[in-house]
Amino acid sequence: MSQDNAKRLAAEAALAHVEPGMVLGLGTGSTAEHFLKALGRAIEGGLRVRGVPTSERTAHVAVQCAIPLAALDDVAEIDLTVDGADEIDPDLALIKGGGGALLREKIVAAASRRMIVIADRSKLVPRLGAFPLPVEVVPFGISATRRHLSALFAEEGLGTPSIAVRQGSGGHAFLTDGGHAILDCALGAIADPARLAARLSAVPGVVEHGLFIGLASLAILGGEAGHEIVSAVALPSA
Ligand code: 5RP
Repeated sequence: MSQDNAKRLAAEAALAHVEPGMVLGLGTGSTAEHFLKALGRAIEGGLRVRGVPTSERTAHVAVQCAIPLAALDDVAEIDLTVDGADEIDPDLALIKGGGGALLREKIVAAASRRMIVIADRSKLVPRLGAFPLPVEVVPFGISATRRHLSALFAEEGLGTPSIAVRQGSGGHAFLTDGGHAILDCALGAIADPARLAARLSAVPGVVEHGLFIGLASLAILGGEAGHEIVSAVALPSA
């Protein structure tokens, strides 16, 4: 089975958690786009929901799928957010931000009663960190922020990892929907994601980081596993 097909299976399985009248947080990325397409078909069939997009790209695709949209500030609460991830650990801590939408994704996830993460099975890892951690930073003083991060990683026993300014098209630095830059930090195994998350949040110039801790309560992973099935991994407390 292709990775994209596995993503589609996970996305379509997430639809079973959607109930009429819900306000949904709509994630960003290729797996989330499979969910948007499945949701669009359900809406065409009569389902009534509204979606809060986590990026301009997602808003664009949602409009194409005829999904009614709402602004986060116009809803009291989001019932359920469905989003992809770059890595998922057994406690459902995540690395996100491969698509550069981590700031809005985290704001929406944190405003949601539940978050379901959808992915192909390869995203489930014993420990986070093989995927370079995206850190969204203010462009002003980016070199100073980068030095600060280097020192922090060394203090945390993570050595001297490469910290690369993400590139966009045309040889320019990639800019997020919020006009920020992304530093991709190749950390390797992260022993204590919660501790690192707290320390990153305290660095001046850091807007947000891609560690999502305690936000997802369910992961739906598409894969073969003998059949072409979608399996769920639940937190003990979920
Ligand atoms: C975007 C994200 C994505 O959810 C993450 O990169 C996974 O993407 P994909 O579903 O394309 O594999 O965090 O910022």
